[in-house]
Amino acid sequence: MYSKKYFIGNWKMHGVKKDISHLKKIEKFIKTFETHKISSIFCVPYTILGASTSAVNSKYVKIGSQDISHQSENFGPFTGSVSSKMVKDLNCTHVILGHSEKRADGDNDKNISKKIDLALKNSLHVILCVGESIEDYKRKKSFDVVKKQINKAFLNKKNLKKIIIAYEPVWSIGTGIVPNSKYLDKFFDRLNKYINKKFKINIPLLYGGSVSKNNVIYLKKIKSCRGFLIGGSSLKSKDYIDIIKKYYN
Ligand code: PGA
Repeated sequence: MYSKKYFIGNWKMHGVKKDISHLKKIEKFIKTFETHKISSIFCVPYTILGASTSAVNSKYVKIGSQDISHQSENFGPFTGSVSSKMVKDLNCTHVILGHSEKRADGDNDKNISKKIDLALKNSLHVILCVGESIEDYKRKKSFDVVKKQINKAFLNKKNLKKIIIAYEPVWSIGTGIVPNSKYLDKFFDRLNKYINKKFKINIPLLYGGSVSKNNVIYLKKIKSCRGFLIGGSSLKSKDYIDIIKKYYN
C-alpha cells in the first residue's frame, strides 16, 4: 500500500471569490489531520486561481488550473487563451489535462500531448484524464481506449515524473453511477502493470467519476488506486472533508 493519497477537487465551471472560504476550511481541516497522508489539490476556474493561491498555504492545499493553451508555454496572439507560464505565475502547481468535458468540446490527443509538454516546461504537475464512453464500456473496449489515450498523450515524452493519471469512465462522471469495485480493482491492476512495463515508471493512478462520501469506502478497495479526482463533491468543504474522514475511518 502507498501511504500518500491524492484528493483532487475539480470545480469545473463553479466558484466565485466568496467560495474560496471552502478552501480555507479545507486547509484548516488538513492542518489538523495527518497531513503526511494527504495530497489535497483544487483545480478551480482561471478567474479565482490567483485569489485561491493567496488564500491558502500550498503546504496544505495546492491549487491548479483545469486546462492550459496548446499554442505556447509563454505569451502570444491567442485571444482567450491562458498559458502554463501564466498559471505558474499565480503560484499554481498543477493542471488537469484531457478531461472528457474538454475532449467533448474539441480537445484531442495531439493537443493534449502538446499541452503536457507545455505544462512541464513551466514545471506544472499534470493530472491527465482518461476514460471510455458507455458505448466502449459495453463493447468491452475500456482498456483499449484508455491504453490508446495514454500512449498518444505520452508520445515522445522523456520525463513522466510529474504526471498523475485519473481514470474517469465518462459514463460515471456526474451520473452517480460508479463501476463495481472488483471490476475497478482488476482494471487498475492491469493498467498499473501496463504502465510500469511500457514506460518503466510508477505513475499514480486515481479514480474519478461520482466519488462521494457514500461510495469512497467501496472505492478504497481498489488496491492500485492512489486517490480520487472529485467533481461535484468537492464544491462544498463539508462534502470533501467527509470523503477524507470516511476514507481514513
Ligand atoms: P464528478 O466529476 O465527481 O462530479 O462525477 C468528476 C470529474 O469530472 O472530474
